[in-house]
Amino acid sequence: MPKPRIAVVFGSDSDWPVMESCVKQLRAFGENAHVEVMSAHRNPQRVQEFASQAEADGFDVIIAAAGMSNALAGAIAAHTCLPVIGVPLGDGSLHGFDALLSTVQMPPGVPVATVSVGEAGAKNAALLAIQIIARHDKKLAAAYKTFKADQTKAVEAKNLALLKRIGS
Ligand code: RP5
Repeated sequence: MPKPRIAVVFGSDSDWPVMESCVKQLRAFGENAHVEVMSAHRNPQRVQEFASQAEADGFDVIIAAAGMSNALAGAIAAHTCLPVIGVPLGDGSLHGFDALLSTVQMPPGVPVATVSVGEAGAKNAALLAIQIIARHDKKLAAAYKTFKADQTKAVEAKNLALLKRIGS
């Protein structure tokens, strides 16, 4: 099996039920991800080591997800030149608003591409990572175009089904 080009890391094993949809979305495109739990607050040394080595380890994109005060994506971005996609997760009393702000509000010079909160963001992070690596992978680019076309067809089919159901 080829070495994964995409790393999917998240702050806790409790994030897996949401992040599983990210990994599934990547697998739908035939991309096997490196998956690892690491926490910017609880084991910051591993975060630094992982991020500093990520390029040498052959990754092209890093997806980093966490809930509450999400420092993970930013801490990784601080230690790598690879593109970092941040997924704010919705746990905690603020339902992801906390993670959204801490992920999106990066200072100039250290970008994190922030996607939607929760499962939609987990899926979109996978799709964005696919779009990035597809720039240099014709087969993946073709698969992405098919995905988009299928999505369009699905909406059109749903529209027709709805109109039939409501008799319009
Ligand atoms: C964040 O705190 C994690 O990413 C998780 O979303 C949240 C709670 O973590 P646990 O207490 O469930 O490990 O760092």
